[in-house]
Amino acid sequence: MLNDHIEKILIGEDEIAAKVMELGKEVSADYADKDLVIVNVLRGGVIFVSDLIRKMSIPVTVDFMAISSYGPSTESSGVVRVIKDLEENIHDRHVLVVEDIIDTGLTLGYLLKNLSSREPASLSVCVLLDKSARRILDNLPIKYKGFDVPDAFVVGYGLDYRQKYRNLPYIGILKKSIYDFDLKDQLT
Ligand code: IMP
Repeated sequence: MLNDHIEKILIGEDEIAAKVMELGKEVSADYADKDLVIVNVLRGGVIFVSDLIRKMSIPVTVDFMAISSYGPSTESSGVVRVIKDLEENIHDRHVLVVEDIIDTGLTLGYLLKNLSSREPASLSVCVLLDKSARRILDNLPIKYKGFDVPDAFVVGYGLDYRQKYRNLPYIGILKKSIYDFDLKDQLT
């Protein structure tokens, strides 16, 4: 069973739902009467953004980008490239980037630089999880934040380990035996 792979549940389903509701209200109030484009980063942020927009009470455009930041391992490679670009023109529009997690900040830093060159009216970030202990790039325009998380590899609610565990309804820490097993797998 999927649950048997989890060491500890960090943030439960109800806690996530309450926070998403709160964030949806805040974003709606701040962007009322503005032309808002939500830019979501695939694939990890997709569950968060789909819940978030349904808690918003204002008209909003949603678009997606995919950038690679992680290889198959759990360490940031620092290599970032655009795999799928936006379809919307964001010039003179208000952009809110919705991300699942900020770890080193390198991915988001690259993305923001790329988006700001298109001259949006404003550019801010809404992130569900902040793993600030490992931050390399500071001064990111984080306007909305869900939860702080410790320096551990977390999965669930969109976040993966080797493309698995995104479908867990909560956010948890993976058991060490899962990584050890995979490591043995790679060596043989
Ligand atoms: P950064 O460039 O180091 O900030 O990494 C950001 C990206 O790495 C996120 O969008 C995630 O896709 C991935 N990531 C970072 N930490 C975790 C984690 O604990 N679990 C799952 N994915 C993570």
